[in-house]
Amino acid sequence: MSGPSTADLDTWLEGVDYPVFVVTVHHGGRSDGCLVGFATQASINPPRLLVCLSTANRTYELARQAETLAVHLLDAGHRDLAELFGGTTGDQIDKFSRCRWEPGPQGLPLLSDSAGWMIGTVLTQVPLGDHVGFLLAPVQISNRPRTDTRRVLTYQQARTIAPGHPA
Ligand SMILES: Cc1cc2nc3c(=O)[nH]c(=O)nc-3n(C[C@H](O)[C@H](O)[C@H](O)COP(=O)(O)O)c2cc1C
Repeated sequence: MSGPSTADLDTWLEGVDYPVFVVTVHHGGRSDGCLVGFATQASINPPRLLVCLSTANRTYELARQAETLAVHLLDAGHRDLAELFGGTTGDQIDKFSRCRWEPGPQGLPLLSDSAGWMIGTVLTQVPLGDHVGFLLAPVQISNRPRTDTRRVLTYQQARTIAPGHPA
């Protein structure tokens, strides 16, 4: 007997909401980043964040070789950034020619219009299925205050964006 399908799980989770993030990476002179909904704090002490990248994405190709990743929260007013990083692929366009950013440590692209970023060291990569989990130890966190903490862009606001890469 087969268990519940992906569609069954989608139905069970329908309407559930959570923040989405943009994860950026720089490795070997190349940069990319993608929208990520599969991300969560994974430990309080020590502080840890888990972000999950589809093995189909170009961002994963760079991230699997990188020592650090940057994780950005988005303001609800910046759905354009979610469309850019979630709806297009670095295989076809240079996303960083279409948004404001500045180079951070080790060349990591930091989005100027994010609602705050965290740079993390990759501690482990965990195969999870069609995604790989990157366990991050925070090394630097932006101190830019959010204009309105209730207005972080969420999955329900971004779910209509067609992913730039099939998962
Ligand atoms: C709402 C939403 C959530 C997404 N969540 C994830 C995710 O958790 N992990 C992931 O790897 N891709 C996720 N994606 C897909 C990537 O952001 C998308 O395929 C992107 O275009 C990949 O770009 P790249 O090929 O330049 O890495 C999501 C897309 C959307 C629209």
